[in-house]
Amino acid sequence: MDKNTLLTQLEALLSAETDPVANMANTAALMYNGLAGLNWAGFYLLKEGVLVLGPFQGKPACVRISVGRGVCGTSVQLRKTVLVPDVHQFPGHIECDSASQSEIVVPLIKNGVMLGVLDIDSPHKGRFSQEDQVFFEKVAEILLKNCHF
Ligand code: SME
Repeated sequence: MDKNTLLTQLEALLSAETDPVANMANTAALMYNGLAGLNWAGFYLLKEGVLVLGPFQGKPACVRISVGRGVCGTSVQLRKTVLVPDVHQFPGHIECDSASQSEIVVPLIKNGVMLGVLDIDSPHKGRFSQEDQVFFEKVAEILLKNCHF
């Protein structure tokens, strides 16, 4: 599906609700079903200093990730989006699904507070572009705007 249409649908889907779990679940479902070439789409939430698995679509995944570990923990540590064209070239990449070849992780930061990450995996190398990064950062922004954490 076209990315602008997805953003419009996301706004519509989340605007009537503020519960983070409900909104993260629908965001993961919309991304996973609306975008081509993904094998995992979901969230990790920062709880007592550790990333804990949240709502997602795809195969079961590792439950806890330390800050600074893997692509997700690196994104939290840097407080920046981390785009990995080839996960096998990323030192410390945590393999949850052996199908994953590329990955993008966007940190969820609201009012300066680190809440967790949006994590998207693809079975294709180089699946994510700079344009995709802008898109997923908008997705995170829409989610954060519509959630009361
Ligand atoms: N690959 C991630 C772990 C989470 S899964 O991709 C769902 C990482 O290196 O942090």
